Amino acid sequence: MAIISSGSDRPRQHRAGPSPIGPASRPDRAGSGRLVDPVAGPGEGSAAAGPGLLQPAAGAPAEAAGADASDAAGPGREDSLRPRRLADYIGQGELKQVLGIAVEATRSRGEALDHVLLHGPPGLGKTTMALVLAEELGVRCRITSAPALERPRDIVGLLVNLQPHEVLFIDEIHRLNRVAEEILYPAMEDFRLDLTVGKGTTARTRSLPLAPFTLVGATTRAGALSAPLRDRFGLIQRLEFYQLGDLQAIVERTAGLLALQLDTAAALELARRCRGTPRIANRLLRRVRDVAAVGGHGRISAELVDQALRLHRVDARGLDASDRRLLALLLEGYGGGPVGLETLAAGLGEDPTTLEGVVEPYLLQLGFLQRTPRGRIVTEAGRAHVAAVAAMATPGGHQK
Ligand SMILES: Nc1ncnc2c1ncn2[C@@H]1O[C@H](COP(=O)(O)OP(=O)(O)O)[C@@H](O)[C@H]1O
Ligand SMILES: [Mg+2]
Repeated sequence: MAIISSGSDRPRQHRAGPSPIGPASRPDRAGSGRLVDPVAGPGEGSAAAGPGLLQPAAGAPAEAAGADASDAAGPGREDSLRPRRLADYIGQGELKQVLGIAVEATRSRGEALDHVLLHGPPGLGKTTMALVLAEELGVRCRITSAPALERPRDIVGLLVNLQPHEVLFIDEIHRLNRVAEEILYPAMEDFRLDLTVGKGTTARTRSLPLAPFTLVGATTRAGALSAPLRDRFGLIQRLEFYQLGDLQAIVERTAGLLALQLDTAAALELARRCRGTPRIANRLLRRVRDVAAVGGHGRISAELVDQALRLHRVDARGLDASDRRLLALLLEGYGGGPVGLETLAAGLGEDPTTLEGVVEPYLLQLGFLQRTPRGRIVTEAGRAHVAAVAAMATPGGHQK
């Protein structure tokens, strides 16, 4: 397990508690370009820490399973585009308001922020928000993901090394195993670790105090979280798909960071076709940049965006190949539904949880798909869209 620590190489003005950057926790450039911080390395005096903690990260989490798995953009590239402060975080007005108030109140009381659960489809800014919260609190953020916390000592090692008020970010928190969850309960509630020492008749439970910390959990499937875990979060916030204007602002912000000249109409066209998702907006902008570079265009126009997105089979409403495959299977294979999730997933060769958490939400949001007790149904709007795309694919059209 590798712990990815963000920003620990940057100076902090309001660091709470003593500086946690010891020789064993200095960030290191890993092959992936991520900052890897072997938090609980040997020699840090943690009972639970062992050399086993210094294994490679357990793979990229849900993001890799998402609709954007095809994007080879390393996390380092994504990090460079993340807004760092609440004021730079575009859209999600309610989320920002709620968390902004909580951060301010917490800071004035000199406490750790209450535990935060962020849920919603991939690419909407959950990881970014965890980092923003740490930045606003003036503390470090430790980043890990549930699949990397396989053994009890993984999570114990993380917890005992937290400094007061630090943020521990656990991605894909619905995938925590039961043992890890049970270690988390007293840690979240009372900042206490209950450890069993010894075996059999000599086994005893020992309690270890922990520094007050903030757990930020992220999940694409809030419903998959166990009730006791969910109940221990003081703030539970859902991230929504972004509004057109916010997406346009995100595209323009990214264009600025990438030093691209982009027409307003081009930004709007990209905003319309990114599935309401900042990560996809940024990814599509990079594809457009490629087409512009190869074509020798200095300025990016709406026509160029359209041309590039057609090339990448992103249709007028932003649907990609997996969206269209799902609609096509429902329409052609089952007369539009209803079809159960498992059947659909099997037909598409997809994992049901990916389908439910990644592909379906945007189709539901567009009103192209409906979830009913008997299964999924394609709506009239969905049928009309598929028909329109098919018409474009006939000779004379461009879109497949
Ligand atoms: N509110 C926002 N404003 C600007 N950019 C954003 C915002 N939310 C997300 N992004 C961009 O989208 C990318 C993906 O966000 P991320 O936090 O990794 O999503 P999630 O963790 O929900 O899958 C980030 O690299 C960031 O550049
Ligand atoms: Mg994330």
